[in-house]
Amino acid sequence: MIAWIKVSSYEQMSEIAADIFTEQLAKKPDSVLGLATGGSPLGFYKEMVRRCQAEEISFARATTFNLDEYVGKGSGDATSYHKFMCRNLFRQIDLPETRHHLPDGLAEDLAAECVRYEKLIEASGGIDLQLLGIGVNGHIGFNEPGSRFDSRTQVIELTEATRKSNARYFEKEEDIPAKAITMGIETIMSARKIVLLAFGANKTDAVERLKSGAVTEEFPASVLHKHPHVTVIYGK
Ligand code: PGA
Repeated sequence: MIAWIKVSSYEQMSEIAADIFTEQLAKKPDSVLGLATGGSPLGFYKEMVRRCQAEEISFARATTFNLDEYVGKGSGDATSYHKFMCRNLFRQIDLPETRHHLPDGLAEDLAAECVRYEKLIEASGGIDLQLLGIGVNGHIGFNEPGSRFDSRTQVIELTEATRKSNARYFEKEEDIPAKAITMGIETIMSARKIVLLAFGANKTDAVERLKSGAVTEEFPASVLHKHPHVTVIYGK
């Protein structure tokens, strides 16, 4: 079931998302949190950093798993998702370094890395609360249209639409990675609760399509209709 929260500003979306994660951490300080990168969660991270530095919340006992990472990018790479997370969240909060996880985009054996990541999530007890953005093409994580609903962590070829939409983070077009490791759709659906953020005119079509309720692998986010506890915070 999807609960819809319409907001009038990006800041309001970030604040509401921060409230949901704050409540989760208050109820269960050792929560396993699923995190996302991109423009949608930036304001949310800023607010979580503020709350953590004000000692209103603590990540000291939490564990985090990010949705995805580019193949070929590692923590030393300015455009990696590792770097994005360190810069925007990890370095500024009290989460122990050993307990934040992203897929290793530099792994030699990518198939083995997918299995390792999936097992690590499972061993942690599973994700309590997962944050998601939505791609203009309806992707969640990097699960592009056509991804199977029963997919687990996998290597995926990025579509042109996604590469174009992420081009802003790269200097040259040829620098945009062609592949990524992403939690699969079933991995995401295994989270106990999910919060999806979608703000801006460029997300209106995707939100409308999600609202229409039709469930199809051609529009990956539509799988969320089958999940018992999803909150979509959206606006433009
Ligand atoms: P964005 O990306 O938050 O940068 O818009 C979302 C996504 O592609 O999943």
